[in-house]
Amino acid sequence: MDPIEAMAPLDWLALLHPVLMILFVYPVVGATIRLGILVRERRLDINPLPPTVGTEHVDHGRWVTTGTVVLVLVAILWSFLATCANPQSAGAATGPLRIPGLLLVGAGALGSCLALWRVRHPALRASFALLCWAALLALGAQPEVWRLSDNPLGFDFWRSHYWSGSLLVGLLLFSMAARPEIQQRPRLRKLHVTAAFLMAVLLAVQAITGTRDLLTQGLLG
Ligand code: HEM
Ligand code: HEM
Repeated sequence: MDPIEAMAPLDWLALLHPVLMILFVYPVVGATIRLGILVRERRLDINPLPPTVGTEHVDHGRWVTTGTVVLVLVAILWSFLATCANPQSAGAATGPLRIPGLLLVGAGALGSCLALWRVRHPALRASFALLCWAALLALGAQPEVWRLSDNPLGFDFWRSHYWSGSLLVGLLLFSMAARPEIQQRPRLRKLHVTAAFLMAVLLAVQAITGTRDLLTQGLLG
């Protein structure tokens, strides 16, 4: 049979996370990196640019963070649906409150990320960023979500799409939460630049391990 015809709705849903990442998040990542370099050139008086480059960089960064959080939730949702639909999987232990509880945690992750756009107080920014990250980690820790390895002493852990993705989301949320401090404090700006290098590497790693998993894990059929 033609493999395209053989794709079930769940297979198409599996494509939603990678496809939307490539279509909507990665192009904005490119613009964010470019704008970050312009912010630096402006600060060092290398390039006479308007102060709006800073605002533009931050706006793009917020969209990258929010888009990534939403699409990680889509990937996790797919993992749950795929496990439920697989007749071979024993299915995870489920009580009457488990599914509503997990939905609440997912809504908490999304709500905390959206709250980060509005809140000003440093304690609130830190709390919502941590809440969002913790909620994603809690969902990712469920047995339905496939992870290459959970043992940091093994090689598989370091090439796991899930764990590098979790670190990346944490760094993005930190940048979003610490925006005023990055602008005002040289030490945090330096920390942000270091984190930015790591984020750029991790974004490349995610693209590599994501396509690798599509090929090797037989996710599509
Ligand atoms: C891959 C992602 C990112 C890269 C490569 C990146 C890179 C940079 C660079 C090179 C600078 C200039 C630092 C300097 O002046 O020496 C900068 C500044 C800054 N970045 Fe990012 N960044 C990224 C993501 C983010 C995100 C997600 C946010 C938050 C939403 C953010 C917020 C800021 C802020 C507030 C500044 C200071 C802007 C100013 O001085 O007006 N960045 N970034
Ligand atoms: C910012 C970049 C990305 C992050 C943070 C991220 C994160 C995640 C997370 C947390 C999961 C769920 C755990 C798992 O099943 O392993 C996942 C699943 C997956 N990701 Fe990514 N990912 C990113 C980019 C990509 C890209 C670029 C691709 C492929 C081109 C991709 C392909 C996949 C696939 C195939 C899955 C399995 C489940 C599904 O299809 O929804 N990811 N990703």
